[in-house]
Amino acid sequence: MTDYKALEHEYGVPLQAKRDLVAVRGNGALLYDEHDREYIDCAAGIAVASLGHCHPKLVAAIRQQAETLITCPNIMYNDMRSKLLEKLVEVTPESLTRAYLCNSGAEAIEAALKFARLHTGRTNFVTAMRGFHGRTMGAVSATYTPKYREAFQPLIPGFDYVPFNKIEKLDAAVNDSTAAVMFELVQGEGGVNPIQADYLAAVRKLCSERGVLLIIDEIQTGFCRTGRFFACDHFNLQPDIMCVAKAMGGGVPVGATLLNADINIEPGLHGTTFGGNPLACAAALAAIDVYQTDNLAQRAAELGDYFEQQLNVADLPQVRSLRRLGLMIGIELKQKVQDKLAELLEHRIIALPAGPNVIRMLPPLVIEKEQIDRVVKTLREILA
Ligand SMILES: Cc1ncc(COP(=O)(O)O)c(C=O)c1O
Repeated sequence: MTDYKALEHEYGVPLQAKRDLVAVRGNGALLYDEHDREYIDCAAGIAVASLGHCHPKLVAAIRQQAETLITCPNIMYNDMRSKLLEKLVEVTPESLTRAYLCNSGAEAIEAALKFARLHTGRTNFVTAMRGFHGRTMGAVSATYTPKYREAFQPLIPGFDYVPFNKIEKLDAAVNDSTAAVMFELVQGEGGVNPIQADYLAAVRKLCSERGVLLIIDEIQTGFCRTGRFFACDHFNLQPDIMCVAKAMGGGVPVGATLLNADINIEPGLHGTTFGGNPLACAAALAAIDVYQTDNLAQRAAELGDYFEQQLNVADLPQVRSLRRLGLMIGIELKQKVQDKLAELLEHRIIALPAGPNVIRMLPPLVIEKEQIDRVVKTLREILA
């Protein structure tokens, strides 16, 4: 049998620590390795496979579009692209009236930063401590945690970082050079930290009063993950710019930057070869259709409650706290999580860290209760 691990080690640039597992196929919340061993996938491609793996409607849409038209540059109009743009504006907060389509989260962030500078004529940004926005130079400049940033200096100047939930710090950081404030509403990589509603309302007010744009990064929280279609919907928040990606295409790479009606970008100042390609647009349309018809937001809310009740961290001595919105779950331990993630894998459960002490669970929203029971049973055993 081909040694896939050896091939990746020999020919891949080793950027991430790997789990000892070669995933070769998936179905719903389950992944299978090359020996056909079954795993419950509570990483879901890192918040991508919210529909589960290989959802039949997604597969059918991709297959059909692959036989019809795969690529179409933005110098022409396209049926799938136009339908997706309309759909995105329909499902996102009311303030957002147009979308730029791209291929990943970091690209959506880059576009947001460029559009904010163009619109305001200002250069600077304020983002949150513990925030994460991606790995390209603009996104990394916006990302607080030094380990993502320091090796790449000098970065784009003009970024300042404030703690979540302290409005006086934001008030002091925003000045006449600030183009935008950019936040996640539940920090994903930073430890599953939900923003407080009263703080967010104060942030929205401060931005509006000072002519500063509010950019919301819904790349991890978007498309039903938190129990609403977008995390913004929990707060009735109307952002000026919103970035989405990850679960948008159900696994097919696609992203978008949505803008409010006031923001106009002159043609020629930004662009993309692959963004808005018909294959990705068809996938995103199919994925969004399933999120809507199967009401996966409500499912995420209910299953998140169920997970929390069943796990009952109050009587798990190794757990400090559980933070959660829908099926975006962070279990903060009193110790580092790497050994626990390895133990979970031994029990054929794939989970993620969020910082050194937090186990992050992002299962597909189609996960079955019985599968949650298996995950919870194992968690209770290893955290007792
Ligand atoms: C909140 C957030 N923003 C941006 C990104 C970057 O997205 P991508 O990896 O698709 O570039 C991520 C990825 O984890 C993310 O969680």
